[in-house]
This record gives sequence, structure tokens and C-alpha cells, in this order.
Amino acid sequence: MLAIDALQLREDIATLAQFVEPATPGTTRRAFTDAYRAGRVWLREQMQAAGLTVTQDAGGNLIGRRAGRTTAPTLVIGSHTDTVMGGGRFDGVIGVLGAIAVARALREAGVVLQHPLEVVDFLAEESTPLGSLFGSTAMAQGFSAEFLAREVPGWGVVADALVGMGGDPSQLLQPLRRTGEIAAYLELHIEQGPLLEAAQVPIGAVTGIVGIRRADIVCTGRPDHAGTASMAVRHDALAAVAEIISATEQAALTRPGTVATVGSLHVAPNQTNVVPGQVRFSVEMRSLHWPEVVAMWDEIVATVQTACAKRGVTVQIGTCEDSAPVQFPAWIRQIVAQACGQYTHQVVELPSGAGHDGSMVGVIAPVAMIFVRTKDGRSHCPEEFAAHDDIVAGVNALLQAVVAIDAWCEE
Ligand code: GLV
Ligand code: MN
Ligand code: MN
Repeated sequence: MLAIDALQLREDIATLAQFVEPATPGTTRRAFTDAYRAGRVWLREQMQAAGLTVTQDAGGNLIGRRAGRTTAPTLVIGSHTDTVMGGGRFDGVIGVLGAIAVARALREAGVVLQHPLEVVDFLAEESTPLGSLFGSTAMAQGFSAEFLAREVPGWGVVADALVGMGGDPSQLLQPLRRTGEIAAYLELHIEQGPLLEAAQVPIGAVTGIVGIRRADIVCTGRPDHAGTASMAVRHDALAAVAEIISATEQAALTRPGTVATVGSLHVAPNQTNVVPGQVRFSVEMRSLHWPEVVAMWDEIVATVQTACAKRGVTVQIGTCEDSAPVQFPAWIRQIVAQACGQYTHQVVELPSGAGHDGSMVGVIAPVAMIFVRTKDGRSHCPEEFAAHDDIVAGVNALLQAVVAIDAWCEE
């Protein structure tokens, strides 16, 4: 039976973990940073060493391609190598390095698939002030001119950031790939939640991905002396935001199966003895059922209006960044479940509460994912951990799924 080189994969994960931003916690390799760029230089070499022909597309995706026996649509496998601030070593990484391990295993066994195979390191999956899911959005959907021209303090203009990563914004007003060009997209990822650990299984087959809406909001009040400005005359932007944060928490608490988060807050002038004059913050909501996301957002926006109006605070609500929920097609889920069944005594199927590039690729191609058990369900933190044996089981299941999908699509 085909199998990946487990030792090489362990070494690769350890090597990529060394590319981190200086003086940051955990594993921090945020998109658009020098550490991320350096990691990708190393990654390109690994792709080449695996016999892949490496290119970068206009969306900044790093792509290693292996020819197939035919010019059938491409099978795509991969994930991302950027991290959040203070993240872990596995989120995204095992999907990219696992995909390279799959390509290596196929080459070493002398297997040539019917379909061309592409290993993709999608650009900038994680949320940054500039946005998220850059590479997969470029591939499957494209960007608006307005989004590309957006300027974010401290991060620059979106189009310039793309150029800095080797992209070409002039080509990104349309999707880089069309429906039919990708036969299937498969992604291996850590679960980032507690279900597989609770079920005592190393890997699981994913059923779909939650929908996510994100927006930035700016509340502008007035900075004043915190001792002499009476409560009656204040325009306290942060007090308004405190109410909005509670409403955000409440919107999800009252809807089972949903989550909502205010994760980023910039207070100006951010000074102990000054009434907060301006707050820029993020709101994020998630559910497998899109109407729930919309209902949460409507409720939060209503609170934004009332909380600001009663304090004489003005508000600017940014454009919503949406990725719709995706349900994976039954045929590909079945193949993936069978592949997982070769490496676990029980096949557990579960949805993803985390966002993934598959949400975007799912717009133009059938998508499926394999999850790897994650210690204590922790992720987006330095404690994130997956046992190497579990990762190897996941990558081997990915390998079997690639071979099975290649054969299935031939029938
Ligand atoms: C990606 O990791 C996300 O779910 O935010
Ligand atoms: Mn992540
Ligand atoms: Mn991820």
C-alpha cells in the first residue's frame, strides 16, 4: 500500500516552524511579513525537491504541479502556511507539507495519476487587517476594485500587499480559475476543536465549513479630560463599544450552534486619563446556517446604532467580508470517509467551525477535508498540538483519497 515518508514530514514541520517573526509569541508567521516570505522560499525548494514544477499565480498562491497522464481537470491539495499572531505549528502547515508528502510518495512509487496534481500554498488564509482567504478568493472569486484599493493604516494598500507577495492585482478582478478546471480540492487540517479527541479517533472526515461574516467598525466620539469632563458631557466611544461587545456575545448565546467574537480593538488615544475618543474594532460571526449569521449581524448593527446615538458617537460600518457556509458533496465525502476508514477504527464525520480555503474553492469545485485530532481542541495559540502519528494517519488518508478520486473521476 502507498504510504508517505513519516520521518521526512516530521522534519519538514519542525523546519517550517523555525520561520517566525522575531519577538513574537508561539509560532507567529503572519501573511505579508518577511518571515512568511522566507518560509515560502524554503517551501518552494521542498516542492521542487518533490519533483513538482513550481509557479506562483497572480493571487500570490505558491503552486507545485505534477503532470497527469491526461489533460483532465486538476486535482488540487494544500492549505496555508501563514499563522495568526501567537499561533501554533500545525494550523495550515500540515495541509501544505502533507500535500508535498503525498506528491513525494506518488513519485517514489512511480505512480502517475490520470489528473494533473497541484500542491497549493494558498496566500494569506488567516485574518489580517487587510483581509483573509486571499489566495483562494483570487482563485475562485476574484476581488472588487474597491477592495484592492483599500488602505489599512500600518499595512498599506491591499493591491500593493499582493504585489509584495508576487501577485498581480490587475488580473484579480475575475477568478483565476473557472468551474470545471479543478476536478476536486482536498485539504488536510487539524480539527482545532474537541470532537475527535472525545471520540478517541486520530482523524475524521469533514462534512462542511461554517459561513463567516466579518466587518470592521469605527466609533468616533470625543477625547476629553477624564477628571473634568462630567459624565453628562462625554462622548465615550469605548463605552458604546462595550455595549456592542455584550450584544455580540448575546447574539450568539441566544442562538445554539453560532459563535460571535469581537477579537480586535484599537482605542485612541488609549490613555488612562482621557475619555476614549475613537475605537476601531472587528466583529465576526459564524454558523453553518447563513440566515443565523445575517440575523446576528442585524441584531448587532441595531445595538451599534442605539449605543452610539445615545452617547453622541458617530459610527462607520465597513464592508462585510463574507464566506458562505459550504456543504461538501456526498460523493467526495464518501470517498474521503473510506480513505479515513483505512487509518481509524471508526469513521467520525464532523463539520468545521473554523474557516478554510476550501470555503472559497468550494465556489468552483467539489471540496472535501480530513481533520486530525487536536490536543484539548486548542488552536490559534502556542499550545496547539497534534500527535505526529495522527498527522501521518491523516496524510496517508489524504494520499489514498487522492488516488481514489483520480480513479473515480476516470469512471
Ligand atoms: C481560520 O483559521 C479561521 O477560522 O479564522
Ligand atoms: Mn487558523
Ligand atoms: Mn487553517
